[in-house]
Amino acid sequence: MQYKIMLVEHNRLLLEQLSKVIESAQDMELAARYQNSNDALGQGRVFNPNIILLDADMDNATELLQEFIASFPQAAIICTGEKWQADRTSHFIQSGASGYLIKPFSYANLKEAIKTYTTNGMEMDSQVMTFFSPKGKSGKTTLIANLAMALGRSTGEQVGIIDADLQFGDMAVFFNLEPQSTIFEATRDVSFLSPLELRSYFTKVNDKVSVLCGTKTPSYIDKVSIPNLETLIKMSKSLFKYLLIDVPAGFNPTSIAAAEMSGMTYVVSMLNGAYEVKHAQRALDIFEAWEDYQQRVKVVFTRVVPCNQESKRKMSEAIGYPVEAVVPNAYMVVSKAADNGQMALDLEPDSPLAMSINYLAGRIIHQNDTGRGAG
Ligand SMILES: Nc1ncnc2c1ncn2[C@@H]1O[C@H](COP(=O)(O)OP(=O)(O)OP(=O)(O)O)[C@@H](O)[C@H]1O
Ligand SMILES: [Mg+2]
Repeated sequence: MQYKIMLVEHNRLLLEQLSKVIESAQDMELAARYQNSNDALGQGRVFNPNIILLDADMDNATELLQEFIASFPQAAIICTGEKWQADRTSHFIQSGASGYLIKPFSYANLKEAIKTYTTNGMEMDSQVMTFFSPKGKSGKTTLIANLAMALGRSTGEQVGIIDADLQFGDMAVFFNLEPQSTIFEATRDVSFLSPLELRSYFTKVNDKVSVLCGTKTPSYIDKVSIPNLETLIKMSKSLFKYLLIDVPAGFNPTSIAAAEMSGMTYVVSMLNGAYEVKHAQRALDIFEAWEDYQQRVKVVFTRVVPCNQESKRKMSEAIGYPVEAVVPNAYMVVSKAADNGQMALDLEPDSPLAMSINYLAGRIIHQNDTGRGAG
């Protein structure tokens, strides 16, 4: 696709500099450039741009953005600013911008921004999910990893995992990754990063799924600040259509912050006896403090035997809350997969485990069809 770009930049020097970047690109056309945004609104339409780079370093940037959206419904609008500001950026995205780019930018920055923001990962409809467990060993890391793969495969969208299980994060081990950077570096640097730069902190599992791995040593736990974690989650929303967050078991600052930032929180418990049901119930009691908890909290039980509708119904009855999904006891395939550095989902694609994970993936994908979108 040929990019027809309209550049709106109030700073003369930047206007010159950025124009040069676009003009020298083979696959981009500088369809029009304006120093004055009213001129752009008045005259720009005849050039039919499909990308608008809009100077957002202005007091009235939000109103301007709205006017550009109304006048150029066909174009993707990428706001540009000299500094990354999480709150402002997220506000622009919510107002309908496709993305945010730091200027001055290089051809490579621009190209990647266009690719990212026009094909996937617009924050607006990104689904953020936290997987919370009342107690450890709930099967949630296994669930997240397999679910992420299922989501990537069946939607072709970008899927991100944040391993915020700060002390015992094992997503890297799970996927057999050797991360160059972890959540420790990402939260340390986040206030200086743009989303595109943040992307390089994630480690790719395949062309759809990427993981921000956990800290390398448990002692880093207190080095991850909660406000920075929140900024990180916010920023990651512009990179991934689906964002899955693994958190430490139980209620703690990390799990609470992640859940607050998420459109959906899954309470995951592994059935070992009757206690887990009680724990799930108690966790729900706490989430009840959220006014909209019935839309934002879903319950999943793992290692359910027999894993069928009847069990699901019985468990819903027992906790007095609908159970979203039940995952079967699949110890053999899960541990075989772990030994081979593979996903259980791939190892036995027709297994009951794979079926239940694909079912849950389908529910997530179609969440927006039935009502409130998560995210
Ligand atoms: N559906 C399942 N059936 C049987 N065993 C499972 C299932 N899912 C996971 N397991 C096993 O249970 C153990 C815990 O799984 P996992 O690490 O996914 O849970 P977790 O909640 O992330 O644990 P942690 O508290 O250590 O983070 C692992 O040994 C895993 O192989
Ligand atoms: Mg885990």
